Amino acid sequence: MGYYIGIDLGTSAVKLLLVDEAGAILNRVSKPYPLLFPRPGWAEQEPAAWWNACLTGLPELLAGFDAARVAAVGVAGQMHGLVALDERDQVIRPAILWNDGRTGEETAYLNNTVGKNVLSQRTGNIAFAGFTAPKLLWMRRHEPENFARIRKIMLPKDYINYQLTGVHACDYSDASGMLLLDVQNKCWSAPMLAECGVSEAQMPRLFESYEPIGTLKADVAAALGLPANVRVVAGAGDNAAAAVGTGTVQDGACNISLGTSGTLFIAADAFGVDPRNALHAFAHANGRFHLMGCMLCAAGCNQWFCGDILQTSDYAGEQQAIDPQRLGRNRVFFLPYLMGERSPINDTDARGAFIGMSMDTTRADMVQAVLEGVAFALRDSLEVAKSIGVPVTRSHLCGGGAKSPLWQTVLANVLNIPLSLPQTEEGPGYGAAMLAMVGCGAYDSVAACARALVRTAKTVQPDPAVAARYEERYRQFQRIYPALRDLFPTLR
Ligand code: XUL
Repeated sequence: MGYYIGIDLGTSAVKLLLVDEAGAILNRVSKPYPLLFPRPGWAEQEPAAWWNACLTGLPELLAGFDAARVAAVGVAGQMHGLVALDERDQVIRPAILWNDGRTGEETAYLNNTVGKNVLSQRTGNIAFAGFTAPKLLWMRRHEPENFARIRKIMLPKDYINYQLTGVHACDYSDASGMLLLDVQNKCWSAPMLAECGVSEAQMPRLFESYEPIGTLKADVAAALGLPANVRVVAGAGDNAAAAVGTGTVQDGACNISLGTSGTLFIAADAFGVDPRNALHAFAHANGRFHLMGCMLCAAGCNQWFCGDILQTSDYAGEQQAIDPQRLGRNRVFFLPYLMGERSPINDTDARGAFIGMSMDTTRADMVQAVLEGVAFALRDSLEVAKSIGVPVTRSHLCGGGAKSPLWQTVLANVLNIPLSLPQTEEGPGYGAAMLAMVGCGAYDSVAACARALVRTAKTVQPDPAVAARYEERYRQFQRIYPALRDLFPTLR
């Protein structure tokens, strides 16, 4: 039986999976790398750190297994990051990441001067600070020498694919997040490229996520101990890959990812746009489309509060102190905008806030408020979906935060929908391995692969009484950001 490697190039670490054709996970390895915040609101990473993590992690992943059986590799990755290569394919500057908020002015220029309607007609989307196009405008203005040296633009996972194969490729799901792709017609948007001062020759070649882009370079195959005929498929943005990994491929199916970011992903057979563009209209890794809301700091908020502020790594211990009777009864609220926010408020100036504390507020109330604040912010995206006639009546749930039983319960009740947890927690990496299987013909389609491999471990049901209490809390939560909105820019 053939083996497949799924690589999830995350924001905090690269997570590697060795999977067999029947979907069993044979081994997993994770290699962390630093996330750089050179200025408040900026976020960068060194592409060399990603590649080094793969180079050290992959041999570890394969140790003790017959590497000759590996048939293909699929890479999923953090979306939107700008990786710029020079004429010798050397990285010009650190990658500017999806959660970087430096492009407020460029985003405003695109949305207000070029105009949201024009952007939406060209790409299906408007500008958000984390998207790639505003980053190109920022680089052209602030680092003209670097900008002039760009020969190829790529996204983070495409840099790994390039290192593996020597091919400059990108898939439609990830390319959708650049604001340079005409998503509906699946081609680069000539007016958007012109707007950003780049040409099509500087862009990678486009593929479906499950299409092979090439095979391993001989030196890389030798360094990793893999056969040189191992195929590499184009892969996908991490959210589309996670959707594949949780079996979110049918029209209307939903996946929620509680990772560093938090996303609500709704698969769609046909291309459709949210008229107010609060949800992204992107391509899916199954050859179709999806709508997505993305919050910039989800499990990241819990990590910040427990890790950085409370100085503990025992997140489960902190949550044990929360009395289940307190669900929906907390008077403390948390706004989870530690990195500004994308969906649906699109505000780089927004910041985190605790509100409602009194002398009897406990540490547990504040931990609970963080989990709830993230759930309420995801509900904001669910409400947008509802408002455009895309009802979400149930969802899959994956990502690091989804391991917490308490957070699962909070989320199911705040959203008031059942949440299914897949047997395989590693959404993006597993989805990437599945794309590799489809690329080798092991399965006819992404849907067939999902039907064969993805199983539900458990479903968390909302409790009507708790959900009703959260309904009331959500109405209160909804009033907090509008009350603070005008204050945030003055805190810059
Ligand atoms: C999606 C987004 C994030 C990153 C996280 O639009 O920006 O979910 O992909 O890796």
